[in-house]
This record gives sequence, structure tokens and C-alpha cells, in this order.
Amino acid sequence: MTDPAPWWKTAVVYQIYPRSFADSNGDGIGDLRGIIDRLDHLQWLGVDAIWLSPFYPSPMADFGYDVSDYCDVDPVFGNLDDFDALVDACHTRGLRVVIDWVPNHTSDQHPWFQASRSSKDDPKRDWYVWRPRNPDGSPPNNWVTSWSEDGAPAWTIDPVTDEWYLHLFLPQQPDLNWRNPGVVEAMHDVLRFWLDRGVDGFRMDVIHLIGKAEDLADDPEEFLPLPHVVLNHEPSCLPLVEGIRSVLDEYDGDRMMVGEIGLLDTSMVADYYVDGRGMQLAFNFPPLYAPWDTLFWRPNIDAVATHIEPKGWPAWVLGNHDNPRQATRYGSEERSRAAAFLLLGLRGTPFLYAGEELGLADAEVPAERVVDPGGRDGCRAPIPWDSSDDHGWGPDPWLPWPPEIDLRNVAAQVDDPASIANLYRRLLAARRSSAALQVGSQAMLDSPDSVLGWDRAEGPERFRFLVNLGPDEADVSSLVNGWEVLVDSLETDHGPAPDTVLSADHAMLLRPAAG
Ligand code: GLC
Ligand code: CA
Repeated sequence: MTDPAPWWKTAVVYQIYPRSFADSNGDGIGDLRGIIDRLDHLQWLGVDAIWLSPFYPSPMADFGYDVSDYCDVDPVFGNLDDFDALVDACHTRGLRVVIDWVPNHTSDQHPWFQASRSSKDDPKRDWYVWRPRNPDGSPPNNWVTSWSEDGAPAWTIDPVTDEWYLHLFLPQQPDLNWRNPGVVEAMHDVLRFWLDRGVDGFRMDVIHLIGKAEDLADDPEEFLPLPHVVLNHEPSCLPLVEGIRSVLDEYDGDRMMVGEIGLLDTSMVADYYVDGRGMQLAFNFPPLYAPWDTLFWRPNIDAVATHIEPKGWPAWVLGNHDNPRQATRYGSEERSRAAAFLLLGLRGTPFLYAGEELGLADAEVPAERVVDPGGRDGCRAPIPWDSSDDHGWGPDPWLPWPPEIDLRNVAAQVDDPASIANLYRRLLAARRSSAALQVGSQAMLDSPDSVLGWDRAEGPERFRFLVNLGPDEADVSSLVNGWEVLVDSLETDHGPAPDTVLSADHAMLLRPAAG
């Protein structure tokens, strides 16, 4: 008998951005108790795990990705008791809990950085990346920081000691120096702190950045002004990843790490699996950036098969708190529905961003309400829970509401069998009840240009997916013979006989016809 697959291969993970999910005390900011109150929705939907974006104490320059204490909860989100209660409530319902770990940088308010900046002789000086001034006043290298419109340097002079410190993101997010063993040990202990509290895994923020070239060599001129964060493919990162994995492996129960590898080439992403000794999962963003066109999707699916499959288990993601929502990028409800078949049907672990199941598009954020330095407020709009005036929140949530709120709220969609949320629920139920859909092989089919078609199989079980990404109908008669419809993207009560012509942006999940 083969071993059962580890949970993170069969799971569908649901990303919660705590500020925006659910507010238990009416202050307009989502919190941990709010999440506990809304777990029914996740069970109704049928996901298996949650990933929580950071809830740690933070000055919120980057809304929690600037951590000032790795081992506590920011009061705006609750406290450690609330966290423990959330883990308990999830585990009681059979939901796994994955939390965000931000290893590349701290907040400039973290006591480690406060000590490090205080003097060149401080024992923590070397915990961050400091360089002296050059005679000509130029920064130590040509690295460009993230979210800068004018290619601004990833370095800032700190007046206390008149030296540069490195920050690949905001100046309030100084980079840790992972070449210092004290940093490695302290960050490993952070993992243990949360593993001891029962978390099932970590989403590791920009993990590909913790290894940096020892000489901090310039980025090639031809890539500028791309920020260094998309260019840092550095071999010295891989042993660090192995070291982190070994901490997880000290614990039983298949503790999992999924890396955010913000590199733009799938072959590079594959390296971070370190041949089974590194990440169990790695986000591969090229499909997230791919336009709604088989011209872009086919090579992306091939790249996963070519580069990821030989090294580890793929992860699929079409939305998160950093990018326009898939509904906004693809531009129609039909496409959002069809995209659900890609996310949940392609072989690998899907990560579903809260609100995607409602077909939410980004909020329009007027200039006076912009709060994020990276321009990402739109996809972080609060989740509307019902059609009441405050949609289940206090009177004044921290960001404006997303569009079409009377249609795109949880209560309205749960009640409507034809809603996109009910479509996700049907797909998730199908997935959950079938080993072929969870871990089965995948074979791409010869199909019309605008159609992606693939089979999933395990033992005697077989399924077929057909997704039309084109603006015109496509003849799929040769692909549907002997099959019947299990889930249709557009119709709730589709009969068993598949359409032989797929309309634009139409998708079907088929199973072998009975008899
Ligand atoms: C990751 C996070 C993003 C954050 C950045 C810096 O890309 O997803 O939200 O701003 O890292 O921590
Ligand atoms: Ca709150």
C-alpha cells in the first residue's frame, strides 16, 4: 500500500488577509475573533486550510509585513489567546492553519534593528546589512527598491552612525543579514514558537531574498530599473532553505512551508524545492500574470510540468493581497467562473484568495483613501458578509467596498444556487471526493487553439476538463464523446450530455458517461 498523500498535497488553501476578512468589534479592521466567527463560511465552501497574512505587532508601514515582534499578536487583531482559540476552532473543524513568516526583513521599530542602528559596535550591528559611505556619496550598489517609480536605491543612510542600510522594500523594512548565525538561530526559534502553538505550516514571505551574494554585486544594467526583489536568484539561499526545512521536520504531522518565490521564471522557482529538502510548495507567479489567452496559459502549464513536477508538487495561485483580483484582470463573471476550473483542476495545491469565490473585483480607491505604498488597496477591500447597510462590519471599514456589493456578498451568494460561490463549492466538493482530482496524473489534450483540455486520472478514476479562453465558440465534439457533465461553469442544472460547442469563456468538468 502506498502512503497516503500529505495533507498539503490534497488541500485547498484559503488565504485570509486579516485586516479585510471580518471585524468582531466594529472598529473597521478585521481581527482574529472575526475570523473565528466566520469559519462556518469556509466549511460551507469546502476548503481544507487557511493561510493568515501577518497579524504580528507592527507599525503597519506595509500593513503587517513590517514586523516589530515575531512572537505576539498586534492588539488591532487580538492577542495570543485569540490566536490559540483560532487554531483550536480551525482544528476542531478539520481546517489546517498556515501562518505568514517574514524572514527577509523586520520593521525598523523591531528591537533588533533599534539595537543594530544604535552603534557600529552593537552586538546586533551585523544582524542587518550595513555599508559605509563611498567618497562619491553613491549607494553601495545599484539595487533598486520595490514600489519606487523612479528606480530609487534599496539603501538609506541612517543618521545615527552615518552608514547605509539595505532595504529591498520600504526604508521602514531593513533587511536581515542571514549570513549572521545569530539571525538564523533567532528566526528558527520564531518558527518553533509557532510550531509549538500548533500551526500546520508557514507561508514564507519573499523567501528567495534571504540569501544574498556575498559581494552584493550590482544588478546587470539591462535589467534596471527592475527592483532587486525579482532578480535575486542566489544559490546561497538554498542551504538556508534546507536549514529552515529541518526545523519543520523536528515536528511531526507534516508541517509545511510554501515559499513566496517572486522570481519571474518557473525554472528558477523550481530550485527552491531543493530536490525534496527544501520547500514542499512554492508559489509560481507567471500564471497569475498570464493574460486570459491560451497563448500564455499553454506555455505556463508546460513550464510547470517541465520544471516543477520533476522536483516537487506544484502550487497554483490566481490572486492574493499583492495583485489585482482575477475578476479585475480577466474582466467578466464568465471568465472568473472558468478560471475556477483552472485553479482547482490543474494538478497541484490551489491557493484561493478570500473573496475570489464571490467573484469580487478590486475596489476603486479614491486618492484620499489610498493607504498602501505599493498601490495594492483595491484587492484588499473588506469582504462583504451580507446585504445589510454595514455588510457585517462596523460603520467605517478601513478601505472602501468592492463593486456590486448587493450581489457579491456571502449571504446573497450562499442563497443563490447559480452564484459563483456555489460553483466554487461544487468544484471543491468534486475535488474533495476524488483522489484523481486531488493527486491524479495530468495529461494535456489536443484541443482547439482557444481551448485548454486536460485529463486527470488515478487508478480507475478519470476526469476531463475543458476550458474555452477564447472570445468565440469552439467545437469540442471530438473531446466529449463518452463523457458526461459533472460541473458546468455557466449552468447549475446542466444535463449529463456535454455541449459539443463551448461558448466563449465556458468551462466543463466531465466524467466518463455512465453505462
Ligand atoms: C511579499 C508580500 C507583500 C509585502 C512584501 C514585503 O511580497 O506578499 O505584501 O509587501 O513581501 O514583505
Ligand atoms: Ca476589529
